[in-house]
Amino acid sequence: MYDLIVIGAGPGGYEAAAHAARMGKKVALVEKGRTGGVCLHAGCIPTKALLKSARVFAECRRGAAYGVHAAEVRFDMPAVLERKNRIVGALARGVQSMLERAGVEIVAGHGRLRSPGAVAVDSRVLEARHVLIATGSRPAAPPIPGLDSPIVRDSTSILEEREIPARIAIIGAGYIGLEFACFFSSIGTGVTVLEMLPQAAGGTDPDVAARLLRTLEKDGVAFKLGCRVTRVTGDGVDYVDAAGAPASVAASLVLNATGRVPVLDEIGLKEAGVDYDARGIRASDEGRTSVPGVWACGDVTGRRLLAHAATREGIVAVNNMFGRRDRVRYHAIPSVIYTHPEIASVGWTEQELQSRGVAYRRAVVPMAVSGRFLVENEGGTGLVKVLAGERYGEVLGVHMAGDGASEFVALAAAMIEMEMPVAQAAELVFPHPTVSEALKSAILELR
Ligand code: NAI
Repeated sequence: MYDLIVIGAGPGGYEAAAHAARMGKKVALVEKGRTGGVCLHAGCIPTKALLKSARVFAECRRGAAYGVHAAEVRFDMPAVLERKNRIVGALARGVQSMLERAGVEIVAGHGRLRSPGAVAVDSRVLEARHVLIATGSRPAAPPIPGLDSPIVRDSTSILEEREIPARIAIIGAGYIGLEFACFFSSIGTGVTVLEMLPQAAGGTDPDVAARLLRTLEKDGVAFKLGCRVTRVTGDGVDYVDAAGAPASVAASLVLNATGRVPVLDEIGLKEAGVDYDARGIRASDEGRTSVPGVWACGDVTGRRLLAHAATREGIVAVNNMFGRRDRVRYHAIPSVIYTHPEIASVGWTEQELQSRGVAYRRAVVPMAVSGRFLVENEGGTGLVKVLAGERYGEVLGVHMAGDGASEFVALAAAMIEMEMPVAQAAELVFPHPTVSEALKSAILELR
């Protein structure tokens, strides 16, 4: 009898398993593939490795802007993939040994709830006081005719593409679409992004999203916003544009980046009576499902499809199941799009505050107020927007565009988590020279 069985060893499941084991609990972690999940093997880490290589390539090509002249610059895709695989391999070994050190028992196989306290793993049945479901998500496959064409990739299969395509059409301008648009345009591929909404990076602060869009367009990415994709053909994509006119874009490769859907099948949710729908398992801010003793975290809940959200949700669930009250404060979870420029946000947007009727003040400063930003980003652009409550001055939202922002958005998240007034935030000492001083400048404007 285990204290906890976790199904799924992504960043939600494995961190939760380790946390419970460190609390002295007897924990089994059931995984049918590799520990580390999508994030490590086909998501966050491999894509960042590719983006870094693309960035180095792009910087070398414009080295003259820094006074550096390179004779030949070549993007060696097989070598780039080899580096990516090496990094993933090292991290995967790290996760495995961390779990062993924590005392988690890893059970290989497909886990399926039999009843609230029983999990079948292939032919065995394991029992536990608590079960945490962390089975993640997979790429969505919307009903677009031709999506099974041999030129179509999803966010997993594109990671093994060894040839640099001449032209790529990317369906969806969300996180995945934008990061790959940045990657491919940086290495010389012609990129067209087709998005059905009128805005790229939907849900992101519109000023920040517009800044990203303008930069990507300047770098050669074509955006077709507000369009409807009607068909993927053997050599591109047909769509109806925002004005209702039929059009097409030629491409040798098509990336389906239309979102991800929770993995809900074959895990026994119906048998155990767990409430769910196509968007995910219904889970509370404490990680509880509709069935006592069954908990859920990460993408399978369909709440925030982010690795760090999954980790926090898993740890919160473990805390609650073993008697420590805890809850996820969703509005303080930062999000980052690792494009160039990076987009990093946390807290409420202006639109959300307006629709909630919250009075706020705002400050917007260019990233260029930071000397370090200018040093690091020749010709670069960016902005920091800080929103604070009108009455108490508490930091409510921070929305940034500009390279470096991903590294200090956690500081903004801390301010929001603690409801820190701008007067107090203004007393914090920011190291000089760093890009984070742009955040400080925006805060000083609101003090
Ligand atoms: P997403 O939900 O961020 O974006 C999908 C986009 O595709 C949306 O803008 C949607 O309007 C559009 N779309 C859907 N169907 C379409 C159609 N038929 N034609 C044209 N456009 C269509 O999903 P994405 O980018 O696939 O990423 C999946 C998840 O993975 C996200 O929820 C994201 O949070 C997570 N992720 C996070 C990253 C990060 O934190 N940097 C990086 C990559 C993914």
